[in-house]
Amino acid sequence: MKRRHVLSIVGGGVIAAAGLFYGTREPTRARAPWREAGVGYLDPRKRALSHAILAPNPHNRQPWMVDLSEAGRVLLYVDTDRMLPQTDPFNRQITVGLGCFLELMDMAAAADGYRVDLDLFPEGSNPDHLTKAPVAVATFVRREGIAVDPLFAHVFDRRSHKRPFDMDRPVSAAHMDGLLASGRHGTRIGGTNDGAVVAALRRLTHDALALEIETSRTYRESVDLFRIGKREIEANPDGIDFSGPLFETLALLGLFNRKTALDPTSSTYAEGVGAVLKNTDTAMAHVWVVTEANDRESQIAAGRDWLRVNLAATGFGLGLQPLSQALQEYPEMGEYFARAHGILSPDGGVIQMLGRLGHGPESPPSPRWPLDAKVFRREKT
Ligand SMILES: Cc1cc2nc3c(=O)[nH]c(=O)nc-3n(C[C@H](O)[C@H](O)[C@H](O)COP(=O)(O)O)c2cc1C
Repeated sequence: MKRRHVLSIVGGGVIAAAGLFYGTREPTRARAPWREAGVGYLDPRKRALSHAILAPNPHNRQPWMVDLSEAGRVLLYVDTDRMLPQTDPFNRQITVGLGCFLELMDMAAAADGYRVDLDLFPEGSNPDHLTKAPVAVATFVRREGIAVDPLFAHVFDRRSHKRPFDMDRPVSAAHMDGLLASGRHGTRIGGTNDGAVVAALRRLTHDALALEIETSRTYRESVDLFRIGKREIEANPDGIDFSGPLFETLALLGLFNRKTALDPTSSTYAEGVGAVLKNTDTAMAHVWVVTEANDRESQIAAGRDWLRVNLAATGFGLGLQPLSQALQEYPEMGEYFARAHGILSPDGGVIQMLGRLGHGPESPPSPRWPLDAKVFRREKT
């Protein structure tokens, strides 16, 4: 056999073996909650909650905990060990994520024939930080003929997109209008595909993200939550996940880990930072959610409407990525916070969410803890 022939067979074997190896490196178990939502539960609360755990939430902390010990009721709590104290000092964003969770639970329950009566913060709330008191008590009531929200059809395809968008594909005015009309919870949803405003927001979101990375305590908060490769992701199906052949290989070679990610002289630092900043530069439109007040109820309402915007975008085939840095309330971010509010809500109010829109490559679903890991029974005090 000719040498070239032998080499190509050997080479093909190596590629096939690598393919087989990497084929087994997808974090399949960490994505199981996306396949299992609604399946096999007798309890309607669990059917709804198995959808709610797919909600977007900051850094994928999944801080929800539910107590199901009262018949027909879900008591929602927040796991105060899963906060983001550096970038989210008042737990505002965590609360917004809980709003996304409640909206999804409500939609799933309705699709299953149940109305949900929500009592938010029944024992009161603290504006400075979330506490161990209940976030919500949800009562499920059977209701024949309840309307199914059309947005519910997009739950399994919804993503927070983390890759660059195609800069040849604009976001249409009709889609922008659809997004602006998607809210139901009294927030103001704003958006733009105007070139000059988009350019200003690209710059703002880019600079704010760069500042977060340059501020060591805020960047470290993210890096501490990196889950690199299948083993780490399946051990902790939350945080910021890196899966697939490229990251598995870089990790195997010692080129990508939490240490290199923190080292500004490493090539993975430079490439990683470049990649995330590039995302901000490829925004083709932006959308944001504003509330008049900044109490916990308003933050929940913002999350509920953000989830709706995210699902509506999915329905239009649009990618959406929240870009929260300029909205964060730690001192170093003050200048960008003021600038964002000056551009997007000059007449007052609080911008609770801001995201970029565009057409991007398909992304796999992000990891989730299974529902059972989030059910607990409140201890009697
Ligand atoms: C309040 C809030 C803030 C967020 N901020 C950001 C952000 O600044 N950058 C980002 O890439 N994703 C952000 N996300 C998206 C989360 O990272 C994402 O929801 C989580 O990783 C789960 O992924 P999924 O939405 O694709 O299921 C945010 C989500 C919420 C609810």
